[in-house]
Amino acid sequence: MTLRLLTAGESHGERLTVILDGVPAGLTVREDDLARDLTRRQGGHGRGGRMAIEHDAAHIVAGVRGGLTLGSPITLEIANRDWENWRQVMAVDAAAVKRKPITRVRPGHADLAGMLKYGADDARDVLERASARETAARVAAGGVAKLLLREFGMQVRSYTRSVGAIEAAVPTPISWDAVEASPVRAPDDAAGEAMVAAIDAAREGGDTLGGVFTVIADGVPPGLGSYRQWDTRLDGLLAQAIVSIPACKAVAIGDGVEGAGLPGSQVHDVPVYDNRRLRHETNRAGGLTGGVSNGEPLVVHGYMKPISTLLKPLATVDLKTREPARAHYERSDICVVPAAGVVGEAMVALVLAGVLLEKFGGDSMAELHRNVESYLQEIRK
Ligand SMILES: Cc1cc2nc3c(=O)[nH]c(=O)nc-3n(C[C@H](O)[C@H](O)[C@H](O)COP(=O)(O)O)c2cc1C
Repeated sequence: MTLRLLTAGESHGERLTVILDGVPAGLTVREDDLARDLTRRQGGHGRGGRMAIEHDAAHIVAGVRGGLTLGSPITLEIANRDWENWRQVMAVDAAAVKRKPITRVRPGHADLAGMLKYGADDARDVLERASARETAARVAAGGVAKLLLREFGMQVRSYTRSVGAIEAAVPTPISWDAVEASPVRAPDDAAGEAMVAAIDAAREGGDTLGGVFTVIADGVPPGLGSYRQWDTRLDGLLAQAIVSIPACKAVAIGDGVEGAGLPGSQVHDVPVYDNRRLRHETNRAGGLTGGVSNGEPLVVHGYMKPISTLLKPLATVDLKTREPARAHYERSDICVVPAAGVVGEAMVALVLAGVLLEKFGGDSMAELHRNVESYLQEIRK
């Protein structure tokens, strides 16, 4: 793998740590460049109280000198402000740690499977890492990937397509300013208002909601990814990256879901010469054919299940007493589809940066630019 990401850190631990390995030397990266997406991930109507405590910022601790990457692994740290309130519960030291085991496992969360897997008798030991707090680390790394892609004219953005049963009417072109101004990152105001109301109603009822986010990557050159092997296909890489987002249970590329129910004549994108430039008349395939980018925008949808920690807890069992019980509750989000879209952008950006580097190589940005440019000149012929 050309670009590798490792993250570490518990949800209420001292900090999250990110190592991003494989970024060429000479890319301009500043902490401020990573701040906006971290803030966007924290937002969206439907977030819980935790996000009011955190003000996420990525601190660069390695891999950058004088504003430019060195080609060495980039290391970022994001402090958890809430850690101050959890110092005893999360203490590293055996003598200092305060335990109050969670044994009423939450249906739909990682509690039960994680406890069985690791032989834990306290779901705290599971949920601290299973928690989507880890996605802040991915967004910080994705910010670096976006800076790399921007150098080649690529831009990765997202919007909320649905919340619960409320679907947005997606305009063409999408007004990205309107998406960012919407409290739920919806591309259509009326649907946005209905989504806010649906989230409020869920909160009132002690319930939660899921929905669908859409990530669009513009400016992607044709030829990224490969049908050479199952694990080199760009569609497969994107699917893995998107479904790895906690609570994301399905992924679709372009009109993949709708297309399954239609005849071929209504699905496939016809190539045309437009002023001697090749393009497709439509983009139902979401920019991918044969696991290779085809020059059209990449379109990827992530399907989020509703959050599994409910204010009105579901029935469960207590693993300590083995009796029926109500599930554990701790401060939680009601709906995270707008935030998940931001995480989706990061995942798509990381995958795209990875396949770009795989195809074009280059230890420095200058070398990468030369390689990309010579390929683009060739295919423009
Ligand atoms: C941005 C984001 C925030 C989340 N916040 C919560 C939360 O507050 N409470 C919760 O129970 N699950 C939350 N989740 C989902 C859980 O992390 C996820 O359901 C859990 O780890 C189990 O994994 P699975 O749903 O993929 O099976 C969140 C997910 C994302 C993407």
